[in-house]
Amino acid sequence: MLDKIYITRKLPEEIVEPLREKFEVHMWHSEEKGMTYEEIKTNAKDVQALWTMLSDNIDRALIESLPNLKVISNFGVGFNNIDIEAAKEHGIAVTNTPGVLTETTADLTFALLLATARRITEVEQEIRSGNWTSWSPMQYTGMDVFGATLGIVGMGRIGEAVARRAKGFDMNVLYHNRTRKLDAEETYGFTYAELDDLLKKSDFVILLTPLTPETKGLIGERELNLMKETSAIINVARGSIVDEKALYDALVNKKIWAAGMDVFEQEPVPVNHPLLTLPNVTMSPHIGSASIRTRLAMMQMNSKDIEAVLEGKQPKNRVV
Ligand code: NAP
Ligand code: GLV
Repeated sequence: MLDKIYITRKLPEEIVEPLREKFEVHMWHSEEKGMTYEEIKTNAKDVQALWTMLSDNIDRALIESLPNLKVISNFGVGFNNIDIEAAKEHGIAVTNTPGVLTETTADLTFALLLATARRITEVEQEIRSGNWTSWSPMQYTGMDVFGATLGIVGMGRIGEAVARRAKGFDMNVLYHNRTRKLDAEETYGFTYAELDDLLKKSDFVILLTPLTPETKGLIGERELNLMKETSAIINVARGSIVDEKALYDALVNKKIWAAGMDVFEQEPVPVNHPLLTLPNVTMSPHIGSASIRTRLAMMQMNSKDIEAVLEGKQPKNRVV
C-alpha cells in the first residue's frame, strides 16, 4: 500500500504530479478557501504526511487524532500554527521553508516601510476618490527613509536581508535579538541595542521575530509609549506580536506616527476592524513571500521534505 499525503490547499499540478508517482496524494479542492479544523481532521485521518498552510491550526488534539502521521510539512518559515511539542512527543517530523523566501520577504518589508513613510496607499486613495484638487507645499508630506534610524527586532535571515537593503538608503541600523550577531555588526556596521533603547531611538521599528510564547504581545502600550511621536512600526512577522488594541490607541493618541502591517492577530482581517479606519495604517494581506518564483520554490521544499521522510531519509528543513 502506498503512503498517503494530504495537502490542505489546492496547489499547482506541476508541483504535486511527481509525488503522485510514489504516493497516494489527496488535496483540498479550493485554492482560495481554506479547510476548517474539522475538515482537516476528517480528510487527513489515515495519512502518513500532512502538507499544511500557515493558516491551519494544527494543535495537539488534531495531531493526536492522526495515528499514522509521520510528517507535517508547513508552507512557510513560521510554524507557530503547529504544536511542536505534541509532534515531537509522537515522533512526527515537522518541516518548514526557511531561506528560500528571505529576499522576497525582505523586498515586501522594504516596500511596506517606504509605503508607510510616504503614505502611498493613503494618497493613492485621495486620487481615486477625487479628493486631490490642488497641489500645495505641505500636502501629503511624510517621513524620510533615507538617513533615518531603523530598529530591527528579530535580526535573523529576513531581518538581516532588510538591514542590508537599509544600508543602500544610508540608514543607521539598530537591532535587537536574544543573541548578538557580531559578524553582521562587523561586516555591515549594525548596532546591537536592548529592546527599550531600540524603541526610543528608532524612526522605523520593524518586527521580524517568530511568534513564540516569549514574543506574543512583545509590543504593547508600554513599548509603543517608548517610541518617538514621529516614528512608525512595521510588522511583517506575526500579528500577535503586537497588541493591536494598544497599537490603535497609540495611533489615535499620536504616540506614534504610523504603522505598516502585513500580518494581523486575525487573518483575514475583519472588515470592521478599528485599524482599518485609520489612514496612517498601510496594509498588505500577509504577502511577504508572495512572488511567483518564491512560492513555487517553497512548494518544492515541502514536497522534497515529505518525500524524504516517507522514504525514511532526513528532510532538509526539519524543525523537530
Ligand atoms: P529567523 O532567521 O529564525 O530569525 C528570527 C530572529 O528572531 C532570530 O534572529 C532570533 O534571534 C530572533 N528572536 C527570536 N526570539 C526572539 C525574542 N524573544 N526576542 C528578540 N528576538 C528574537 O527567521 P526568519 O526566516 O528571519 O523569519 C522570521 C519570521 O518572519 C518567521 O518566523 C515568520 O513568522 C515571519 N515571516 C513572515 C512572512 C510574511 O509573509 N509576512 C514571511 C516570512 C516570514 P535570537 O534567537 O538570537 O533571539
Ligand atoms: C510567512 O508568513 C511565513 O512564515 O513563511
